[in-house]
Amino acid sequence: MEKEKISITTHAGEMIAALKKCAYLTAKADGRENTMAIGWGTVGILWGREVFICYVRKSRYTRELLDKNPEFTVNMPIGEVDRKIFTVCGMQSGRDVDKTAEAGLTLVEGEKVSVPAIAEMPMTLECKVLYRREQDVGLLPPEMREKIYPGEDPDSHMTYVGEILDAYIIK
Ligand SMILES: Cc1cc2nc3c(=O)[nH]c(=O)nc-3n(C[C@H](O)[C@H](O)[C@H](O)COP(=O)(O)O)c2cc1C
Repeated sequence: MEKEKISITTHAGEMIAALKKCAYLTAKADGRENTMAIGWGTVGILWGREVFICYVRKSRYTRELLDKNPEFTVNMPIGEVDRKIFTVCGMQSGRDVDKTAEAGLTLVEGEKVSVPAIAEMPMTLECKVLYRREQDVGLLPPEMREKIYPGEDPDSHMTYVGEILDAYIIK
């Protein structure tokens, strides 16, 4: 498949619009890839590098994979996406199901990372983790903490800062 190179300078708006609907993050370790739906993400510049920052709850299977192999791809739809992809990737865990097979995802080998991209959501970022940190939910305004992290065990998010090594649209 062909890949048309893009730049975050010209496509950041489209990326943010895609995130507001649903984007997809793929991680891979121990020979197994897994894709999860993401709604939170930041595209920008940090430490002089182009970065995509994602926020993954500690309990996610994806978190285990990211900690084993600190690379990921982000795929953003152009147009509509099959509902099944949304429900499988957003509501099922890779611990229980092979999401690639279940959702019928077409894998496209990464250029700069060991993690594949997904042809059905063709706008792609390839990222390598530069930094990770567990969020301190105690620093949030109390009303946000209660809404997003209720209870004693908050299952907080890990922040992963990924340097964008490549960006393209799969044709
Ligand atoms: C629209 C949408 C956006 C989501 N955004 C995030 C997110 O940004 N971070 C997160 O940790 N989970 C998010 N989730 C939840 C995960 O996608 C979901 O729990 C998934 O089943 C985790 O898969 P895994 O256990 O295979 O990693 C979102 C779900 C949906 C439907």
